Amino acid sequence: MKFLVTTAIPAPGMHILEAAGEVRVPDRQLSAGELRRECSSRDVDVVVAQLTDVFDRAVLEDATIKGISNYAVGYDNVDVASATRRGILVGNTPGVLTDATADIAMLLLLATARRCVEADRFVRAGKYQGWQPELLLGSDVSGATLGLVGFGRIARATAERALGFGMTVRYTARSGPVPAERLGHLAGRVQFAEWDDLVRTSDFISLHVPLTDATHHLVDEKTLRAMKPTACLVNTSRGPVVDEKALVEALRSGEIAGAGLDVYEDEPALADGLADLPNTTLLPHVGSATCSVRATMAEVCANNAVAMARGEMPAHAVNPEAWR
Ligand code: DGY
Repeated sequence: MKFLVTTAIPAPGMHILEAAGEVRVPDRQLSAGELRRECSSRDVDVVVAQLTDVFDRAVLEDATIKGISNYAVGYDNVDVASATRRGILVGNTPGVLTDATADIAMLLLLATARRCVEADRFVRAGKYQGWQPELLLGSDVSGATLGLVGFGRIARATAERALGFGMTVRYTARSGPVPAERLGHLAGRVQFAEWDDLVRTSDFISLHVPLTDATHHLVDEKTLRAMKPTACLVNTSRGPVVDEKALVEALRSGEIAGAGLDVYEDEPALADGLADLPNTTLLPHVGSATCSVRATMAEVCANNAVAMARGEMPAHAVNPEAWR
């Protein structure tokens, strides 16, 4: 079995791959042309990929690989339809990063509401002269309304945390309200809202949708204008779900109060002016970045890859119909 690992994953995953077959790790990020050549070389069974490796139609055009095992739950870097047409399975790592990512959504919400970054800078700059009645006042989290956009695993885990902080939690989803029997212990504790209503009434909006054609720039100039001027936007999903240029304008003009972001439209680049805004908390895509989560993701990803290389159905395939 031959694995091309575009960027080394944590040791537990590398050990699984090395025990199963031959592993090659290039010493730099492959260009689209190089990735295409590797995929059609007949010298690679499975590519173990990062969300930064783009497998578009052109890269997959002549591909002979059996699978792409993404080291992520998201897989918007892969043109799944093209992969399926060529009988290439695409694997991902769902479930294992739910809590870690929900923690980061709450962290961004709290940090932005309570001006944590500004406060930290203030102390480090030696400006702290003692307690003052009106120093760095933020906004309340407890009692505020959180609007969740999307209601999958990570949104639900965020809902549980937010309820613990005394927030009112509402959600919107394209598929409509989730029947009470499928809400488990969240039944009766969260309410469905239509998109427009959720946007207009939330104090905090947290995004939990995959990046697709339908969610690209879901939060645009119009959405930002409809939000409360006191509202904060949190994004731990994918950057292009937000029109980042419009977001900078909205934050600059006071159309909304703040933003906590873990992902960016053109990461690692930031939209002009974003980094200069005090009312933002900016993280470098670390939603799943705990030692144990990344190690478990590596195991799940490697096990998916080994199964694909053996011609078996992996535990987590996003396009099982590609298997034959
Ligand atoms: C994912 O898994 O999709 C995250 O963005 C990185 O862990």
